[in-house]
Amino acid sequence: MIEPVNKNTLTIAVSKGRIFKELLPMLNKAGIVPVDDPDTSRKLILETNQPGIRLIIIRAADVPTYVEYGAADVGITGKDVLLEHEGTELYEPLDLGIARCRLMLAEPVGAPRVSGRLRVATKYLNSTRKYFAARGIQVEIIKLYGSMELAPLLGLTDKIVDLVDTGNTLKANGLVAVDTICEISSRLIVNKAAMKMKKNMVKQLIDSFSAAITR
Ligand code: ATP
Ligand code: PRP
Repeated sequence: MIEPVNKNTLTIAVSKGRIFKELLPMLNKAGIVPVDDPDTSRKLILETNQPGIRLIIIRAADVPTYVEYGAADVGITGKDVLLEHEGTELYEPLDLGIARCRLMLAEPVGAPRVSGRLRVATKYLNSTRKYFAARGIQVEIIKLYGSMELAPLLGLTDKIVDLVDTGNTLKANGLVAVDTICEISSRLIVNKAAMKMKKNMVKQLIDSFSAAITR
């Protein structure tokens, strides 16, 4: 565990792209304005207008790891990512209501009933395992890192578990959603030690994000 040393600094872990875009107005409302835009800058540490507050730009799936170990004090990441993360040194105090989508089970339109053991492609191993275990269904899960929609089209698997928002990606690939596994949105996560040692800064951030949430 990395001990948070300076009580007056706050390191916020975020991923670029979709989450950052939706988070930016909330950061601005909290009075935090990044000096650079992560989508155009190659910098991985972004200073902000507030001397003690910096953003680190990492992959969405790495956000819980940085926060867990205290390398970042707080982070913003999707519930889908948190469901895959096994750590215990995190608090999840706030649903930011951004980057909303659903984790869904999908299959090719008109797919025949699967005889034999079901094969499912996903990058969400934990959520998929739990979903099928809860239903007593034997399943072979094939781990992919992206473009899950392709797997049933080429006969790699019978179904997929992936994120769905508009449904356009499923539709464009001849797939249809058959069940919702979980509603997803981005959450604020906080390192347990930072929650104590940087209580004031963290509380201020939670309060101003709370006030900026649009439901
Ligand atoms: P990486 O780019 O690091 O491989 P990624 O492709 O999952 O990760 P994004 O596509 O930016 O990164 O997704 C980040 C988060 O945004 C996801 O973990 C999820 O919570 C949410 N998300 C993903 N796809 C959608 C979508 N189509 N609509 C709304 N939110 C989404
Ligand atoms: C995500 C997700 C789906 C798509 C769903 O991919 O993995 O493929 O969005 O959104 P839709 O229902 O609105 O079509 P993303 O756009 O992040 O691309 P990626 O494969 O690079 O992650």
